[in-house]
Amino acid sequence: MKWLSVVLALSAPSHAYLRFGCATLSVQRLDPIVEPGKVPSAHVHQIIGGNAFNATMDPTIDVAQKATCTSCSFTEDLSNYWTAVLYFKARNGSYKRVPQYPNALLGSLTGGMTVYYLQQDFNSNGNTKITSFKPGFRMTVGTPTAKSGNNPGLRYTCLQDVMTRFPETAAFPDKPCPAGIMAIHHFPACWDGKNLDSPNHQDHMYNTGKGGFVTAGACPSSHPVRMPQVALETMWDTRPFNDKSLWPADGSQPFVWSYGSDNNGLGTHADYLFGWKGDALQRTMDSKPLLSNGLKTQSVAESNKCTIPSTVKENIDGWLDALPGM
Ligand SMILES: *[C@@H]1O[C@H](CO)[C@@H](O)[C@H](O)[C@H]1NC(C)=O
Ligand SMILES: *[C@@H]1O[C@H](CO)[C@@H](O)[C@H](O)[C@H]1NC(C)=O
Repeated sequence: MKWLSVVLALSAPSHAYLRFGCATLSVQRLDPIVEPGKVPSAHVHQIIGGNAFNATMDPTIDVAQKATCTSCSFTEDLSNYWTAVLYFKARNGSYKRVPQYPNALLGSLTGGMTVYYLQQDFNSNGNTKITSFKPGFRMTVGTPTAKSGNNPGLRYTCLQDVMTRFPETAAFPDKPCPAGIMAIHHFPACWDGKNLDSPNHQDHMYNTGKGGFVTAGACPSSHPVRMPQVALETMWDTRPFNDKSLWPADGSQPFVWSYGSDNNGLGTHADYLFGWKGDALQRTMDSKPLLSNGLKTQSVAESNKCTIPSTVKENIDGWLDALPGM
């Protein structure tokens, strides 16, 4: 008996992360962080989370108070998360939006993304205090103009099946992927302790992440406050576009992000706007091992039901002559 409990203590990994699914809330040209108030914003986004998402999101208004539903399975998470949208560019120059499908483990959500909040890594909280984001907090990672793949947290996986996780590449896969392309965005987790935002939406944070959910390096003295390690995974269903006769004649890969400025995927980026209710996220991060069972959940059907109408009236689907806004 004693021997058994020692074995269990050694083998049972402690749980140091939240992983949950969120359905698509909306797909449209709005960007309340980078282009607040602009209708439409420069390029199309796919958005998940609370229904307070709008062209303008005043940082003095707590979205957790304003939103009345969320497309995420944890009902206390009314945050918003968004990325650009993937399009297929056919040999004749027409574009078509690539559909999204949900993480296979998390039920039949409509599109959307998988969201992670880690303490240190999957198995350990690192015995470090993790400080929750505060109402009004927002940040971005990556930039559409990036020309290098230096951030190890911004990666792609060519899915052989829905469970494939490696290898990760900085650029789009250069071959057809049998089960689609997964785009991965890890946000930075070191905060300056003062600013809820910064002019470029990045300088108040510092990235010591090494990608691949590996333990991050220590936070520097300029950004000493360790926050949850937030990451997003989006499964793009490229299967309808895997016929190589539709790909460019030179064999190059045919996918482009909705901002249109690169066809290698290095400009991949994501946005985060905090909106957890009360101290729900702090309580969870303080639990060791991390316990998600105190958080309230809703069914997949409830998550799928939370959507918002398009403020921007335009066609973003079907075969298009140009990317919306480009
Ligand atoms: C978004 O903002 C507009 C203009 O202020 C408002 O009319 C609309 O109801 C808002 N939408 C949501 C979902 O809050
Ligand atoms: C371009 O190619 C796609 C895929 O073959 C086709 O469905 C679409 O109609 C074509 N568009 C034009 C304008 O010819």
